[in-house]
Amino acid sequence: MPSPPPDLLAVRVQDPYPYFAWLRRHAPAHPDRRTGRPTVWQISRYDDVRALLTDGRLSKDPGRVPGYVAGPAGLNRHLVHADPPDHTRLRTLVNSAFVPRRIAQLEPFITDTAHELLDRVEGHTHADVMGDFAAPLTFRMICAILGVPAELDNAATRDTLMATISPGPGLDPARVEAELHALLDVLIAGKRAGGEQGGTDLLGALVRASDDSGVMSEEELRSTAYLLLLVGHDTTMNLIGNGLHALLRNPDQIARLTAPQAGPGLVATAVEELLRYDSPVRDATFRCAAEPISLHGQLIGAGDIVSLLIGSANRDEGHFADADRLDVGRTPNDHLALGYGPHFCVGAALARLEGTIAIPLLLARLGPLRLAKPSDELPWRPARVMRGLAALPVVRD
Ligand code: HEM
Repeated sequence: MPSPPPDLLAVRVQDPYPYFAWLRRHAPAHPDRRTGRPTVWQISRYDDVRALLTDGRLSKDPGRVPGYVAGPAGLNRHLVHADPPDHTRLRTLVNSAFVPRRIAQLEPFITDTAHELLDRVEGHTHADVMGDFAAPLTFRMICAILGVPAELDNAATRDTLMATISPGPGLDPARVEAELHALLDVLIAGKRAGGEQGGTDLLGALVRASDDSGVMSEEELRSTAYLLLLVGHDTTMNLIGNGLHALLRNPDQIARLTAPQAGPGLVATAVEELLRYDSPVRDATFRCAAEPISLHGQLIGAGDIVSLLIGSANRDEGHFADADRLDVGRTPNDHLALGYGPHFCVGAALARLEGTIAIPLLLARLGPLRLAKPSDELPWRPARVMRGLAALPVVRD
């Protein structure tokens, strides 16, 4: 097994694609073995990633890997870390809030909120697409669905949530966890104080599912609330950020999208292509082998972690023609950016709707735009699963 050149490894956060291309070519099932830690297999080819996303020999239960810390203490009992039947039960409890018919009703609210945020930077020569637009827009939508009160819909709440997966320098993990638990205490107590009239929001419904029918434990309730608050925005905000970044580096594709004859069909294919091209969920979420699996002449042992590199699968030249080229009209486009199989993204309709509203609106209202600093100096956030920018500074010409 060849080792990757160190210069490829060094740039994984900034630009993972050369490393991914190396893996697909030389080591499609690559074990990362470090003393004292569980082995992590990196799976990089499209066909393997897609097959393993539905393979029953993989488990999503982190409890099978001794000593593995999956997330903040007391907040790991949610559907991303569950196998059937718990997974089915927990997924059913949240799914109805995200079905396309209900999500479509949010369209005017998303459009109005996007305009309101863009009004605030109207007349400015500089803007930060993440902080001024992508983060507050997407967080407001998940807050609306969950029923988070307006006073908690702010940057401080978002920072606490994101610090749990991308701890910044100088942040004390114990303090972040304490803040997160305090936030959940306030949110859940607020729903309980609302009693029977708790409203039609999802968090109120989950609290009732926990209190009245006992179909959900308190730990599952808290874990699910944390999961949805986090993945409800720190995914779609990266679709907008990574997507705009990719477009700004490919002005010919902006010209196609903003041409007078471009219709909603092109916006829809563009959003799929942006999901594929720089996937916000770079590595799929936790999975481990429940039994030995042989792949490409290697043996993945029971209890080993298996990391399915979605961001690599989506650039696999063996599956996508001209995989490294951004083509906003690409069809077909069977990318894996929203997952595949039983854990397919619950929020897919919401993510797609937000993307199709936000990206053309950004281009129409702020354009013409350019990056305020060279692309290789942009601050990508270090995180295990997600790929996203801490800031995307742009200049309006
Ligand atoms: C562009 C935005 C988004 C992307 C790229 C994305 C991507 C994904 C992917 C790849 C998975 C499967 C992970 C795996 O199998 O390991 C997933 C699952 C999930 N997503 Fe999303 N997501 C996005 C937006 C959202 C939103 C807005 C929500 C809203 C709550 C959401 C909620 C979830 C949940 C709850 C799961 C777990 C499903 C399960 O385990 O059964 N996602 N997402």
